[in-house]
Parts: sequence; structure tokens; C-alpha cells
Amino acid sequence: MVKLFINGYGNIGRRLATAFNLDSQVDLIGIAKYKADERAKEAILKGYRIFIPQSLEQEFKNNKLEFTGFIEEAIKKSDIVIDASKEGLGFNNKQKFYLPMKKRAIFQGGEDSEGKYSVADIIHNSRVNYDKVVDKSYVIQGSCNVSGMGRVIQPLIDHFGDRITRYDVTLIRRWADLEDLTEVKDSIQWDKNPHHQDDVHNFIPDINLFVDAYKVPSRMMHLHQMSIRFRDKTPTKNEILEIFSKEFGVVILNGAKGTAEIRKKALDMGFAHGDTNMIHIHEEVMRTQDDVLKISYSDDQTGMVIPENHLLVQSLIFKKPRKKALAYTDKIFELSKKKKILQEEFK
Ligand SMILES: NC(=O)c1ccc[n+]([C@@H]2O[C@H](COP(=O)([O-])OP(=O)(O)OC[C@H]3O[C@@H](n4cnc5c(N)ncnc54)[C@H](OP(=O)(O)O)[C@@H]3O)[C@@H](O)[C@H]2O)c1
Repeated sequence: MVKLFINGYGNIGRRLATAFNLDSQVDLIGIAKYKADERAKEAILKGYRIFIPQSLEQEFKNNKLEFTGFIEEAIKKSDIVIDASKEGLGFNNKQKFYLPMKKRAIFQGGEDSEGKYSVADIIHNSRVNYDKVVDKSYVIQGSCNVSGMGRVIQPLIDHFGDRITRYDVTLIRRWADLEDLTEVKDSIQWDKNPHHQDDVHNFIPDINLFVDAYKVPSRMMHLHQMSIRFRDKTPTKNEILEIFSKEFGVVILNGAKGTAEIRKKALDMGFAHGDTNMIHIHEEVMRTQDDVLKISYSDDQTGMVIPENHLLVQSLIFKKPRKKALAYTDKIFELSKKKKILQEEFK
């Protein structure tokens, strides 16, 4: 069994813990908490072993929060760490723990793959470079937006690569996650240098891609509008839908009025953490005109990257062929079942 430690227990860390706790190939050593708060209580109630910085020992004791040990001990015991820390802290963790302790680590999409603060030179996307991460010590799992773009672009490349001349993507990003206490401001904010474009170039280097990103006052998923320009006339809408109907982690929906409706369905159906773990292509707003195909899809911000991290572990650690890994990840996350439920609701 592989010993895995999750360093961070926020939006992503909590979901990773739920998933890896169900995985019989993995011994979940525990999770790290950096605050003696309600989330620490939640983790204890869920039965996870909690590891903390030594400096918080007294605070945890004063608050009667049981912990198993200190973070260094957990990392020492582990074969691999999934770092789910706040954006940018993964770099410090690598310097402080993973490098000196010679531990392999997976980082999240908020970390850099280039420059002074780079933590790894490869960004993983299970649809694009699943098996390129084998034997790497450090890998970044692409962010939700970047994972979603890979999931849409790679099937298009596979089928029409030499006919496509450029991709223009507008990312309409949610302001905060459902569980965040952050205030959602009544404003539309632009990003003057979205990291998503460079991140996609990391795993599809020769793509002609332009990304714009806007943050809107919502907690309910991201929406991407992708315009794909062909050299000649585009394929038909039915041809495109047929291709995506066979893709893992992609569902085609018809008739949803917006992202909140899909999220609400996921919550009502009791999907873990209210996640669909997918992208949802919205059939009614897919358009073809002359040489341009427009695809709009919503992207389950927090849920998307959890099966991606799971697949990354299947590749990095277990060296499983992609097909086998997809079947196993599907079993853990019940993606096929969720897909059917959503298709039935929005048809
Ligand atoms: N949220 C999303 O939708 C989303 C989607 C895809 C990727 N990501 C990426 O995933 C990463 C985590 O995002 P998040 O939304 O989960 O953030 P978050 O909710 O703010 O959680 C961050 C966690 O980091 C913990 N932490 C604090 N100091 C740490 C340290 N030195 N080392 C490790 N953990 C530490 C915090 O612990 P305490 O709570 O105990 O203080 C908190 O649990 C980021 O890189 C982000 O870009 C996020």
C-alpha cells in the first residue's frame, strides 16, 4: 500500500481526503491542519489522523483538539505527499520538507511551473499527458480551468488537429468557493495576465491559444466560452457532440439555465461535497458558423481537480495504463453514475 499524506485541509484538501480515504490501494497517513478551528474539529469527527506544526501544540491542546503528531513526522512516514496548501505555499513546503526529506510531491494549480518559485516543470492533465509523469518526483496538477481546457482541446486536436488554426477562450471565473467566507464583491474583474494560457502551453506546447479571464460575483462554478477557428468549414454540431459524449469526465447537458442549477442538483442528489467532478458542455449554446465553432461549458471549480489528482497518483505511483486508471477513478468518484443523473435532469 502506498502511504499518502495530504498537506492542507482547505477546499481541495478536504475533498482529496474524502476520495483517498475510499481508495483501498492507499494508506492515508493523515492530513495537516495549520489552524485550531472548526475544520480541525470536522477532520477529527471524520476520523482522519491530524498532524500540526509543533508551534501549535499548546493551542490544539487548549482547544481539546486531538492530533496524532507533527507534520514532519507524517511526511517522514509517507511515500508521497499531496500538497493542498494555499497558493504559493507549496514552494516553501518543498524547500522545507520535501526536498530535504527526499519525498515525492504533487502540487496544485496555484503553484508555478516556471521562474524563481517553480515547484515542478510538468503540469499534469489526465487527457493530455497522463503517462508523461511516471517517475517524476514533483508534478503540478493543473488548476480546474486548465484541467477543463485540456479536456476539451485534446479531443479536438485528436480529431481535427491539422484543420484548426486557433483557440480563443474566455474564462468567466467564480469569485469564491461555496465554503469560503470571502466576500463576493459586486464587480466584474479582469485578469491582465491569466496564468491559464501558459499552463496549457506546458502540456500542449505548440497550441495557438488566447485566453482572457474575468471574475464574476458568483460561487457557482466557472463558465468557459471557447471559439475554435478551422481552416475550412467546421464539422457539424452533431459530430462534435458525438466526440464529447465518449469523453471521461465530460457530460453534455441541454436545458440547464445556469451553473447554480447544476450545482443545486449535485447538492440535492447528495454528491460528495456537492461536486459533479466534471465539465458540462451546454448543447443549446454550442454554435457553428462558417469556420468557427463555439463551445460553452461549465467547469466544477473545486470538484474537477480531485479525480485528476487521483488519476495522477495512478500514473505517478502505480504506473497504471490510462484505461485501467480511468475505470478505477470512475469507481471511486462514481462519475458515470453522476453523468447519467445529470443527463436525465437536463435533457
Ligand atoms: N478552490 C478551488 O476551486 C481550486 C481549484 C483547483 C485548484 N486549486 C488550487 O488548490 C490549492 C489549494 O486551494 P484551496 O482552495 O483548497 O485553498 P484553501 O481553501 O485556502 O486551503 C488552503 C489550505 O492550506 C492550509 N495551509 C496553511 N498553511 C499551509 C502550509 N504551510 N502548508 C500546507 N497547507 C497550509 C490551510 O490550513 P488551515 O485551514 O489549517 O489554515 C488550508 O487548509 C491552491 O493551489 C489552488 O490554486 C483550487
